[in-house]
Amino acid sequence: MPTVDNATAKTLNELGVNDAQGVAEIFAEVRARFDRQVALDTDGIRNLMLQQAWLGSDRDPVTSLRNFWLGRKAGVLTLITENWLKRSPPSLKGVIGKQFNELKSHIETKLAEQRKRIEEKTEAAALTREQVDLSLPGVIHPIGSHHLIRQVFQEIEDIFFSIGFSVVEGPEIETPYYNFEALNIPEFHPVRDDMDTFYIDLPEGAPTPLLLRTHTSPMQIRTMEKQKPPVRVIVPGKVYRRDNPDATHSFMFHQVEGLAVDTDITFCDFTGTIEYFVKQFFGAGVKTRFRPSYFPFTEPSVEFDVSCIFCGGSGAAAGGGVCSKCKGAGWIELFGAGMVDPAVYGFVNYDAKKVSGFAFGMGIDRLAMLRYGIDDIQVFFQNDVRFLKQFP
Ligand code: PHE
Repeated sequence: MPTVDNATAKTLNELGVNDAQGVAEIFAEVRARFDRQVALDTDGIRNLMLQQAWLGSDRDPVTSLRNFWLGRKAGVLTLITENWLKRSPPSLKGVIGKQFNELKSHIETKLAEQRKRIEEKTEAAALTREQVDLSLPGVIHPIGSHHLIRQVFQEIEDIFFSIGFSVVEGPEIETPYYNFEALNIPEFHPVRDDMDTFYIDLPEGAPTPLLLRTHTSPMQIRTMEKQKPPVRVIVPGKVYRRDNPDATHSFMFHQVEGLAVDTDITFCDFTGTIEYFVKQFFGAGVKTRFRPSYFPFTEPSVEFDVSCIFCGGSGAAAGGGVCSKCKGAGWIELFGAGMVDPAVYGFVNYDAKKVSGFAFGMGIDRLAMLRYGIDDIQVFFQNDVRFLKQFP
């Protein structure tokens, strides 16, 4: 804001200007002052504004400068009109008016030029600043990936989805009824020894003991209790056994259970389904075989083997000696399975005379170890990123 000791705050008479030459001189001074200011860059204007404590100094400097000169209320030109033009003797008004008009159009042109110049400069600066160097490497944001076990689950789920199965999940804390009894494993049955597990400490008088499920098979019962045939489900999940950890044992591991029950399911459907899965998962080249086995909840029961994917079923290691993966057998045991034992249907109110079906249960950790040549199950659970990163 022009200050009182500024020339434009006084009349020409007060300034001692009383002829055409004086008018021309004082207008030249004003114009010179303007020219110095309009030549400044934005920082220069800002400094000037700070020094002179102009109003509006927090605004964009170009606008502030413009207001300083052209502002309607208190701009320099307004002051000149008020103090010089209006309050001058009539004889000088013509000269002053002419000078005034010249000054005004000079100021307007120069300010417009200045705005353009500064805008161009700012734009150029922004362009340089924002210039993208396409040859620079991008910013790499580390993103996680699924754990290998999860990836294998997903692959298995996809294969079974493709043949009409759906996925169900169930509790890891179970009752002995679902984990054993309803699967035709009464309390003193010797197979319980193989499935020693963890029992939960419960307050005295709790209605039923609780345990960590030893297999995903309890979900066979839970699924059949809830739904009538046809049933076609797989159950991925965690299971627990009281095993001491070593390269092939862990107290917690993963299984996928499968169950298909309908009015017309035969042993052929069973073998066909399992073979289809194995060939999808390991490749069409693998051979498969069934061996008789025993599970209280399937009858007949089988163990299902695939030809060793490391030695191609020969049992011999590439450099001589026996294959370390199948120990020379040429076969790898993959999972337990069988036709659902009719006794199980009794526990879920299915009519054993009308329905038939098959069930299977496979260890996922083992499958992943075979597939990816991992020789220690513990690495799955140690969460060492050097291991995990190998399976993005
Ligand atoms: N639940 C059995 C186990 O954990 C596997 C199995 C499932 C066998 C379904 C037959 C049918 O060993």
